[in-house]
Formats: sequence, C-alpha cells, structure tokens
Amino acid sequence: MPTPEPSCIVTVDAITVEVPAGASAVAALVAAGTLCTRRSATGRPRFAVCGIGQCQECRVTVDGKANVLACRTLCKEGMRIVTGAHP
Ligand code: FES
Repeated sequence: MPTPEPSCIVTVDAITVEVPAGASAVAALVAAGTLCTRRSATGRPRFAVCGIGQCQECRVTVDGKANVLACRTLCKEGMRIVTGAHP
C-alpha cells in the first residue's frame, strides 16, 4: 500500500486548499481556482507564464510580503497567499 503524500493547508485569498507539501504556490492558486495573480495597468488579469522566474507575471503577496514569485515559492503549512484577482 503506497504511503500518502504529505500535504499542507494554504489560503489563497479567502479560499483554503490542501496541496502536496512542497508544491509551488502556483499549484495552490490552481487548486483554489484562482487563475489570476495580479492585474495589469489596464485591469486585465495576469497569470503565471514561464514557471521559471523570468516573466514576473506570477507576483503575489505571500505571508504579507509583496511581489513574491509564486512559481518560485514552495507551499508551507499555513501559508497565506493574496492575489490581485479581486481588486
Ligand atoms: S511564472 Fe514567470 S516568473 Fe513566475
């Protein structure tokens, strides 16, 4: 019988999701159904593009720290991710 993967609970805006421990914050956003990390200057939704820390489109606020790259951030128990999806 396979051992279950360790998981952690994180919050994306007001949504609580369970993701595998060590998953990227982008994975938590997807699990929460939030396909918007921030808004452009004209208000259009933006989301992760490259997944390797180059495009800067995945910037969110993590545990109060602004402009964190979600694609380069691993989920930890109790992490709070705030997006710009709901201006
Ligand atoms: S997805 Fe491009 S920097 Fe994160």
